[in-house]
Amino acid sequence: TAAISLPHPPLRTGTGTAHGKSILIGEHSVVYGAPAIAFPLHDLEVRVTLTVSDKPVIKSAVYNGPVATAPNRLRPPLTALREAAKWFELDASKISLEIDSPIPVERGLGSSAAVSTAIVRAAAALSGKELTELERFNLVQHAERVAHGTSSGLDAHAVAALTPLLFRAGVPKPLRTKTEVTVVIADTGTPGKTSMAVGGVRAMRENDTQLIDSLIAQLAELTAAAETALGAGELAELGHVLSQAHRVLHELGVTSGELNRLVYAAEKAGALGAKMTGGGLGGCVIALAHDQADATRIAAALAAAGATHTWVSTLAATE
Ligand code: MEV
Repeated sequence: TAAISLPHPPLRTGTGTAHGKSILIGEHSVVYGAPAIAFPLHDLEVRVTLTVSDKPVIKSAVYNGPVATAPNRLRPPLTALREAAKWFELDASKISLEIDSPIPVERGLGSSAAVSTAIVRAAAALSGKELTELERFNLVQHAERVAHGTSSGLDAHAVAALTPLLFRAGVPKPLRTKTEVTVVIADTGTPGKTSMAVGGVRAMRENDTQLIDSLIAQLAELTAAAETALGAGELAELGHVLSQAHRVLHELGVTSGELNRLVYAAEKAGALGAKMTGGGLGGCVIALAHDQADATRIAAALAAAGATHTWVSTLAATE
């Protein structure tokens, strides 16, 4: 007698994507309400697949295994999954999570926000329900607070944005740029925990509010100057502002020897300016180039100075 094979019920899956981000200027001060400028890194695309399963597992570059024994660094994505499942009335204990991400973790390039955003979008797809921008943002922010401690919301916007953003008073707006802007991003290869950096600034502020508030005010002014320089197409001025911001961030205690070394190497290689980007304490620097050819040269100099990876990103002029 021939065995009868019953067809398996179709696996229910949902996928979602998001991308990396880079902060041009305004990290940390943005947590205290100052403006910031960030742009999407569309080449660094995260893809998440959620699958309904009786034995849910996690598959990702940083962990493969049962959901129940996931390590600490998966707390933000699992928070995103739990919150999104609650919102879309899915059973989170029966969902496998597959994260495919080219964004190095804990490098200030938006890995946590991008993974959470892709999870929230995948959960919406799995449930077959609509996801508004505000819902997406709010769900991702639950996870970002786990990742950052206090979160300004900048990353949650930037990893879903189509254009560079000026983020002011919690509201993202497309940024005006008069000329094309080419930047080099270089990874120190050393992770930096954003929650630790944000917590460190908070602790310093409790200790000496006047000093830290004056540094935050300086970063706010530099960000306004960067916005003006971008609007006027004054790249030399923008570069000068970025380098000054790095020095203020150094005083805030969120740089590192490696970040300082790469900033110096970028400036020596002819960058118009350079600074750390993101939470700091490790992670990446961003350097402003004259043009594409200059960017290639700066990237090579940064690799020679110890950067483990470099990316070149060009922002198109908006007018
Ligand atoms: C992290 O990418 C940016 C910070 O300003 C934190 C935040 O905005 O929540 C350091």
